[in-house]
Amino acid sequence: MTAPAVTGTRGGALAIDALTVGYGGAPVLHGVGFDLAPGEVVALLGANGAGKTTLLRTIAGLVAPASGDIRLDGRDLTALRTEDRARRGLALVPEGQSVVAELTVDENLHLGALWRHRGAARERAVADVYEMFEPLARRRTSAGHQLSGGERQMLALGRALVADPVLLALDEPSLGLAPLVVAHLMSTLRDAASSRGLTVLLAEQNVTSALSIADRGIVLDLGRVVADASAAALAADDTLRHAYLGF
Ligand SMILES: Nc1ncnc2c1ncn2[C@@H]1O[C@H](COP(=O)(O)OP(=O)(O)OP(=O)(O)O)[C@@H](O)[C@H]1O
Ligand SMILES: [Mg+2]
Repeated sequence: MTAPAVTGTRGGALAIDALTVGYGGAPVLHGVGFDLAPGEVVALLGANGAGKTTLLRTIAGLVAPASGDIRLDGRDLTALRTEDRARRGLALVPEGQSVVAELTVDENLHLGALWRHRGAARERAVADVYEMFEPLARRRTSAGHQLSGGERQMLALGRALVADPVLLALDEPSLGLAPLVVAHLMSTLRDAASSRGLTVLLAEQNVTSALSIADRGIVLDLGRVVADASAAALAADDTLRHAYLGF
């Protein structure tokens, strides 16, 4: 079945269907399926080992599924390489504040814009990120290794944004950051998503922070979707929170 291409928005509709993924042994994702609407911010929740990272890496094309498919705006991505998925507007911010430590903030951002923009458009994309993340603008000549954890995570996010993705997947961006820094990062992410009409899939162990900016949440347990509901409904569901989210 081919979903119709989305019109009237920047796109970013993601459809995951019956995705089964393993690492050679038994599968770790078992028939996972869900849809994201364009512009929706969705938290991907679940305990350690639930399969969040595996799912994001499969969407980005870093892990090949055994079966199932992944569509972006109706187009099947499953057979495409990671670079070709990125060209279609898919960006992954992996776990661990990944930036190039030897390059400056400005060089890191230009690197992110390299294949997507040229000349003036590239400068505008970088300038937009500085406007969104003031701490980065102040540190534009600092090397990646000189930044705080929070600044590095902002740079990793900024580097993904300069390529103007339609779908942004993030793997635990709050990991290791102080609560105030997490709060700032989350609100900036929400603002970026709203102002750009970006679809966001946010894998987080920090359930409260993720649900505070998400429209919806999907809970994985042992590689299966066990809940898919509005952020408000998930936050209010004590039984579900105790069973799968540990609080
Ligand atoms: N490269 C790999 N090779 C073999 N098994 C793996 C590999 N990566 C993950 N796994 C296994 O797949 C399952 C899901 O792991 P995954 O990292 O996707 O979970 P997660 O939800 O991201 O967990 P966490 O919250 O700890 O980041 C786990 O049982 C894990 O041990
Ligand atoms: Mg993970």
